[in-house]
Amino acid sequence: MSGDTPLIQARDLSAVFDVSKPWLNRMLAMEQKRFLTAVDTVDFDIPKGKTFALVGESGSGKSTIGRMIVGLQKPTTGQVLIDGQNLFSITNEKQKLAMRRRIQMIFQSPYASLNPRWRVKHIIGEPVRAFNLLPSGEIDKRVEELLDQVGLAKSDGEKFPHEFSGGQRQRIAIARALASNPEFIVCDEPTSALDVSVQSQVLNLMKALQRELGLTYLFISHDLSVIRYMADQIGVLYLGRLVEVADRDTLFDNPRHPYTRMLMDAAPHIDAFGRTAEIVSGEIPDPINKPSGCSFHPRCELTADQCRRERPEVRVFGPEKARVACHLCTA
Ligand SMILES: Nc1ncnc2c1ncn2[C@@H]1O[C@H](COP(=O)(O)OP(=O)(O)O)[C@@H](O)[C@H]1O
Ligand SMILES: [Mg+2]
Repeated sequence: MSGDTPLIQARDLSAVFDVSKPWLNRMLAMEQKRFLTAVDTVDFDIPKGKTFALVGESGSGKSTIGRMIVGLQKPTTGQVLIDGQNLFSITNEKQKLAMRRRIQMIFQSPYASLNPRWRVKHIIGEPVRAFNLLPSGEIDKRVEELLDQVGLAKSDGEKFPHEFSGGQRQRIAIARALASNPEFIVCDEPTSALDVSVQSQVLNLMKALQRELGLTYLFISHDLSVIRYMADQIGVLYLGRLVEVADRDTLFDNPRHPYTRMLMDAAPHIDAFGRTAEIVSGEIPDPINKPSGCSFHPRCELTADQCRRERPEVRVFGPEKARVACHLCTA
């Protein structure tokens, strides 16, 4: 593909879940089927070597987007293009495998994704075997190289996941993700379960690896300070919709959507565990019965009549081309 095509293109992505009760229950109670729109017409690009970050409160659809982008979940509508190729239209098994090698995912709790009965060297080497990347005689050497790349010792390969701390386990998960030589990694709250000091070490490692290996990231977090540190571009999600998309400095210098401003104004404070937590006012509405018009209007400080009636379309603002879905945004 030409250098101008973004490596990742999410086009009009939506995810609708059928959350109806079982048929018989519905018949007896005379209830309609119920649908939950977890992701609503989401659009973004990620250029090669860059980080696009998704920020939003719990339940805003971040993980669902992540799963669709790596191909784990089929979008209800819309497309995911990787290097210009539609991820969900690949039918050839060999091409599917080739595509899977290029995309990896890192989760919040690596413990769940690390087989507790396998030695770390086996865990890290598994993708190399699965994708048939090296002759078996060369795998151990590759694993040592990966351990070194994530700041672990050669001897750590002989241990089991439970022998490590949370931060070290996330390093193991990163090494495993790197084992297939991916170009693109979706990081879903990768440091949210870690102490602040460990968190910054892992974030630094991820940044260094990105520079070294030219990796492209979709970075998901509910924490604006983490997002600010990692992102080139930021998408702010509210109830499944991207309400604002802008490059990092534009977003932090001039947040245009009232929800983005609310997230930023929410004074960070230290919670009982010594971690910063954000206070956001108002409650997230029921995603099955979203408010009419702009779904943010019940929590918005500005709300006009139009906001209750009409869904705001995305408009482009300023020389920085910030994309904002708000009726009342003017500049
Ligand atoms: N498999 C599913 N079936 C039904 N609802 C789901 C499913 N997965 C996610 N949801 C709902 O979709 C919304 C978005 O979820 P999620 O993507 O996990 O958000 P986040 O990662 O931002 O917390 C939530 O309301 C969640 O309850
Ligand atoms: Mg999530």
